[in-house]
Amino acid sequence: MGEFLVRPENVIAALSDLRGADIDWRNGRAFSLTYLATPEALELSERAYAMYAGENALNVAAFPSLRRMQTEVLGFVSGLFHAPPGSAGFMTSGGTESLLLVSYAARQRRPDITRPNIVLPTSAHAAFEKACAYFGIESRRVPVRDDWRADPRAMADALDEASVLMVASAPQYPQGVVDPIAEIGEIALSRGVPLHVDACIGGMVLAFLDPFANGEHPFDFRVEGVTSISVDLHKYGYAAKGSGVIVYRSRELRDKQVFVTDNWLGGLYGSSGVLGTKSGGPIASSWAMITHFGREGYADLATLTRTTTLLLADAIGTIDPLFVMTKPDSTLICFASSDPAVPTPAVAEALAARGWWVDRQSPPDSLHMTVSAHHHRVVEQFATALQASVEDVRASNGAVGQAGAYGTVE
Ligand SMILES: Cc1ncc(COP(=O)(O)O)c(C=O)c1O
Repeated sequence: MGEFLVRPENVIAALSDLRGADIDWRNGRAFSLTYLATPEALELSERAYAMYAGENALNVAAFPSLRRMQTEVLGFVSGLFHAPPGSAGFMTSGGTESLLLVSYAARQRRPDITRPNIVLPTSAHAAFEKACAYFGIESRRVPVRDDWRADPRAMADALDEASVLMVASAPQYPQGVVDPIAEIGEIALSRGVPLHVDACIGGMVLAFLDPFANGEHPFDFRVEGVTSISVDLHKYGYAAKGSGVIVYRSRELRDKQVFVTDNWLGGLYGSSGVLGTKSGGPIASSWAMITHFGREGYADLATLTRTTTLLLADAIGTIDPLFVMTKPDSTLICFASSDPAVPTPAVAEALAARGWWVDRQSPPDSLHMTVSAHHHRVVEQFATALQASVEDVRASNGAVGQAGAYGTVE
């Protein structure tokens, strides 16, 4: 059989070649899709992942190490979000699975409602649309205010007897601002509707940044009406892809997302989420990152990333005709061009031609940057490339740029 095999070193060489056309995120060239703290942490994460890539958390009786790591990761995250005694949660494969599950659990909690709806701002993540499509729920989107934050009063007006969940984000992805969670929490509490805080992208940062960390603008379980929070460790936890956490205020709420059946010939099938087989890789990588950084390490990373974000936002604001759409609350930047002769998507295209990746989004046409800790090394290089990209677009006389997509269907 050996003679037919492609030798491992040749397979790896082929993979390296394939990778050659990808964005060079390991050197800080991507402000989207990827997260980088330090090269040392990345190597640790990848080693931990490789150690556990084949282990399966579908049944942790066989892998007690995975049970222990999941419990410790959940405990760490629950502590960051001031989860009260009695809280409970699970690790998931990331933000989309967490949002699917919280929507499913909300629907399961109210079997008496035949046409359930979720009330959420227009800025809440697209995965809620997927959840609504999958589980037969109405997505009741409420326009955001002029400052891009959710409008609590309009959300209150959108509620009715069939509302099974309210949603707020900390922060929302498109403009990077944090919704007024305390106000929305009061409404949720008074109307008896669960409130999910989507902290998938920002939770591991906001937990260390004032005024969110010190409780002046609470976003977590310190707000009484908040019933669940999601956070992704494969984002600002700097773990390998495939790792999220969902924490519920009570075990009773959490149990609504669990699925159990014995209606087949293979025995009792209990599962906490969408997946059946669940790789140990993301769990081990998450555990490794939490052990490596601890609270202090994450606090330092959050401060560094925040400083870098503000430096980048300032630099963007000095490049004519670009403007930052709102002051970032966290570590996401949204900016655009004010001159039709320099169309916003064309700037992203020119940046891509120079080896830099930013997201294109709409409405309105704007560019989005997810800043990582490692980006502090490339602030000046990026600003220079952005200035040059604007000049490229002006010189091209009429480049409009493709709209781009947040996700692709391939
Ligand atoms: C606020 C928010 N929620 C949910 C998600 C979805 O996460 P994932 O891509 O891990 O499914 C994202 C992704 O960026 C996000 O920013």
